[in-house]
Amino acid sequence: MMYQVFDNTTFCVKTFGCQMNKHDSERIAGMLESFGALPVDTIEDADMVIFMTCCVREAADTRLYGQVASLKNIPLRSGSPFKKRLVAVGGCIGQRDGEKLTQALPHLDVVFGTHNLASLPSLLNSAIEKGGYQVEVLDASTSFPTELPTDREHPWAAWLPITIGCNNFCSYCIVPYVRGREKSRTLEDIVAEAQRYVDAGVKEITLLGQNVNSYGRDLYGSPRFVDVLDAVDATGVERLRFATSHPKDLTDEVIERFGKLRSLMPALHLPVQSGSNRILEKMNRKYTREHYRELVAKLRNVCPDIALSTDIIVGFPGETESDFEDTYSLIDEIGYHQVFTFIYSKREGTPAALIPDTTPHDVIQARFDRLVDLVQARAYELNQLDANTDVEILVEGSSKRDSKLLSGKTPKNQTVHAPIPTGSTIEELSGTLLRVHIEEAKTWYLSGCVL
Ligand code: SAH
Ligand code: SF4
Ligand code: F3S
Repeated sequence: MMYQVFDNTTFCVKTFGCQMNKHDSERIAGMLESFGALPVDTIEDADMVIFMTCCVREAADTRLYGQVASLKNIPLRSGSPFKKRLVAVGGCIGQRDGEKLTQALPHLDVVFGTHNLASLPSLLNSAIEKGGYQVEVLDASTSFPTELPTDREHPWAAWLPITIGCNNFCSYCIVPYVRGREKSRTLEDIVAEAQRYVDAGVKEITLLGQNVNSYGRDLYGSPRFVDVLDAVDATGVERLRFATSHPKDLTDEVIERFGKLRSLMPALHLPVQSGSNRILEKMNRKYTREHYRELVAKLRNVCPDIALSTDIIVGFPGETESDFEDTYSLIDEIGYHQVFTFIYSKREGTPAALIPDTTPHDVIQARFDRLVDLVQARAYELNQLDANTDVEILVEGSSKRDSKLLSGKTPKNQTVHAPIPTGSTIEELSGTLLRVHIEEAKTWYLSGCVL
């Protein structure tokens, strides 16, 4: 189907939330471009604005309302074929709230959910031709979104979803309600897409799923994530990563791949959420602190240099000082290169929202602040181990702080800054692998010079 209405139009996608959303945004951009619309960076230049929203925590939720409301102060560009700017809301808030959004935000033109990205062009087309708002939110996917064209952010890196949805129902989490049940793509499909990327010059592939470790359970009866790792490695990709990995399903076979597979980078995001067994049980995480420590010991046994990262929720309902101490001591003991710390945010409709809690906010905030100090101190210490070493980085572009510096990632996923060598441009270096001598290690980055 072609839509003439997109000729000479421009669009801008604003993305919030996780890599699933970022990936969906790349699909949307790919689709609209295939219909003749041109991507632009700013709302000022855009005839159509698409918000890909997140509701995992309240802060992400409220930001959308502010952003959509402020749009009406930005005039439509001169030369636009439209009389007014079209505004579409998709992603997880679109899925959760559906038509209700058009009441809260009356100048919305389109609302769509997480299961029907492919309908966006036709919904926009109807909004243009008929006027009024268009809403389509489905309960489950009919097709995998990866069957749509993609406009990737970087030509050398690709996110490759292997599952969508989640079956885990952690008691605090809204994701299973807005992304649906876990659904795996076939192994053949994944490998074919990976091979296409590698043949097109992609250096790094990141396999995506809410819990990649359970990949294949719905299709093959048992998880087959390790087969995905082996097969994608065999495509010849330089760097392979994956996210996210649930500790309850991380198998010995997958752990062993860290010591063995050529392309698998020595970095793993393994969200623990809490160090207290009492809280882990209330979170419905289905593992204990002891099990988690054992996983880390096994990982370090096969890959001593592995860099670990994790997610922590502080202030889950009923968290006591002693529960928090258990989290604090676990974070201190394990030693993470990166910890994403979140204050618990109540999500209506999840089981945890029903647990009463009287802990004052300033107590939770104080725990959070203490934890952040620890996280920074440990990250700084761990990065010192790489000072005065040579590492290979994948160059991602120039540094945001200083355009004379290039920025890249080490195998352990640390950010590296180094001066752009004279005679080279950032355009030709981006997407290449370079060796760098690390001179200084800071908390969140390393700096050095290209060898
Ligand atoms: N599937 C991934 C995470 C998805 S959400 C996993 O299981 O690891 C990303 C992170 O957001 C979670 O790991 C959790 O730490 C945090 N999060 C999810 N729901 C939250 C809530 N209600 N309040 C605070 N943090 C939350
Ligand atoms: Fe949410 Fe848990 Fe699923 Fe992760 S595994 S998306 S935290 S329910
Ligand atoms: Fe947010 Fe949806 Fe991802 S709620 S974290 S964008 S799955």
